[in-house]
Amino acid sequence: MNFKALIASGGRGTRLRPITHTQNKHLIPIANKPILHYAIEAAASAGIKEIGIVINADSDEVPKAIGDGRRWGTKITYIPQDSPSGLAHVVRIAEPFIGKDNFIFYLGDNMVVGGVKKYLDEFQRSGANCFLALAKVKDPERFGVPEIRNGEIVRVEEKPREPKSNYAVAGIYIYDHHIFEAVNGIVPSGRGELEISDAHQYLIDHGYKIGFSEITGWWKDTGKPLDLLEANRLILENTDPHIEDGVEIDPHSDVAGRVVLQRGCRIIGSKVRGPAIIGEGAVIVNSYIGPFTSIGAGTNVSNSEVEYSIVLRGCRIIDAGMRIEGSLLGNDVEIVRADGKPRVQRFMIGDQSRVEVA
Ligand code: G1P
Repeated sequence: MNFKALIASGGRGTRLRPITHTQNKHLIPIANKPILHYAIEAAASAGIKEIGIVINADSDEVPKAIGDGRRWGTKITYIPQDSPSGLAHVVRIAEPFIGKDNFIFYLGDNMVVGGVKKYLDEFQRSGANCFLALAKVKDPERFGVPEIRNGEIVRVEEKPREPKSNYAVAGIYIYDHHIFEAVNGIVPSGRGELEISDAHQYLIDHGYKIGFSEITGWWKDTGKPLDLLEANRLILENTDPHIEDGVEIDPHSDVAGRVVLQRGCRIIGSKVRGPAIIGEGAVIVNSYIGPFTSIGAGTNVSNSEVEYSIVLRGCRIIDAGMRIEGSLLGNDVEIVRADGKPRVQRFMIGDQSRVEVA
């Protein structure tokens, strides 16, 4: 059976502002790789060759960054969505691309360890029309939540006030063509969107078979800044340490643990404690880079300490004076020591930024 993949990469990413003012949230790097790459890699390594990516119709940012898919041995088709009308709408507009094939629908901001091949296999074995991957979470009210009775999903509710289980329906769904009947048979929810959970409820109500299994590794929906830091931590923990070409580590430096040093970066008089990744051409001088940190390409850290953080490309962190922890810095951000007296903190910060000072 031919499987296709449909990946959602639209939306406005409002909960990740200010980073998303200038960048699509699906292109924010985790361990120095855009989130969207993880979804594409998951599809490609499950043997899927045809991928449709739904994009915001008013932006060519994703196609520009991702290309035609050849580098993953796939063919990518871009499907523009005029307005963010919900995930069931994303599926609705993809029907001409999917045709009668089975497909995996993957929310481009979800990350799951261990790939998706096993779910495709389970779907095929189960003979279900729809297959949902469930993840145990502390805050089910943020997600689509299944109610399970006698080993069957009897109901799916979107962001319920009183969740009927501790499971989130993860953003990895597998369907046969009956999903199109469902997404065309539902109406917008209170927030004006065609909800994917309502489409699942439609399938249940119309006697279609829903299979499911629990994600046993980890899964993350990277909707909020803290989720990004957590996803970064998890990916770095699962990354093989290596050193690429042209890297310089001077004799006064100390690099230990799971560390990836990307092409041409330089570590001078510094301590790097993995899991961490230092990007292409980045320069770390007299500094400490602690666990769970991603330093972007061309970023310069000097006389400073950074830990459990994501720092994007082209940043300058110079004489920061305190340890930077649990932080997310966008591209070309500067944190430098204020010159002169009196000793002050000086900020030049764009809309919807957040700074916590000691
Ligand atoms: C969406 C879905 C929700 C699902 C979640 C998974 O929510 O509507 O059912 O559990 O993705 O990431 P959203 O992230 O759009 O709030």
